Amino acid sequence: MARKDFLDIASLSREEVDHLLEQAVPFKELFTRSVKKVPALKGKSVLMLFYEPSTRTLSSFEVAAKRLSADVIELDVPHSSVTKGETVKDTVDTLQAMRADYIVVRHKMSGMARSIARQTKASVINAGDGAHAHPTQALLDAFTLKEVFPDVAGRKVLIAGDILHSRVARSTSRIFLKLGVEVAFLGPGSLLPQRRPEGITHFTDFEEALRWGPDAVYLLRVQMERQEAQYFPSLQEYHRVYGVTQDRFERIKGDGIYVMHPGPVNRGVELCHEVMDYERSLINQQVENGIAARMAVLYALKPRTGAGEPDRE
Ligand code: CP
Repeated sequence: MARKDFLDIASLSREEVDHLLEQAVPFKELFTRSVKKVPALKGKSVLMLFYEPSTRTLSSFEVAAKRLSADVIELDVPHSSVTKGETVKDTVDTLQAMRADYIVVRHKMSGMARSIARQTKASVINAGDGAHAHPTQALLDAFTLKEVFPDVAGRKVLIAGDILHSRVARSTSRIFLKLGVEVAFLGPGSLLPQRRPEGITHFTDFEEALRWGPDAVYLLRVQMERQEAQYFPSLQEYHRVYGVTQDRFERIKGDGIYVMHPGPVNRGVELCHEVMDYERSLINQQVENGIAARMAVLYALKPRTGAGEPDRE
């Protein structure tokens, strides 16, 4: 891949998506070996800069980088000079001075990863920026769907929930569309984007959406932290109308529909407890595949930046 940074799915070509998905396969095979490490990024440093909480993305980037033999440094943002008022720009300049080869960034502001990428020679990887993009989540989702359906083109995925505030919905729907997957959104009208993305069907009724015949239902977390208004009466009401309730779970099981979720899960809101143990739940497989997908991204961006090399100018 002839690019320094990995910022969104929209700017990736189909060839780049295919390349990353193919590259993730041998990395996943590595997990079954007794030594789960290759020297591909030996001597490189990966700096983790997370201004928002994370379990899966943060830890899987760390595992991915270590399996490629890179050195990993996590900036503990709540205990860093950020709390003394240091700006993102000055923080990134400081990391640049330490010659990080990669900066993996999560921030609540849409566009922050791109802004940092313009500022630094390091390869910047967007680990989620506001409601804009979460491209490595999209890559691991596509990788997971392809494990179940090697020929994904023509398969149908229903993405359900808080679409409006979801960077996952934006990135994952884009990668699915690039692969020829049919995508539909389901949610209350208040949580669906007003401008309907091209090629995506909208449903506001769960039963109607199930009649559309999805191969997988991709549930989203209700993102209370990004909601500035009351978008539905209560979480109980949301579960009753838009969640996978016991009744809908029976229907989903009966139709053999796969269930996906980016995590973290709100049990009792977007799904009932039983879904977590469902044999066609791909939720843990998504987490495992996050490591292989992120290894593929780190490896693909490997040789550029010059961040860790002497200044040329
Ligand atoms: N899916 C996801 O981004 O999870 P985390 O917030 O735990 O990283």
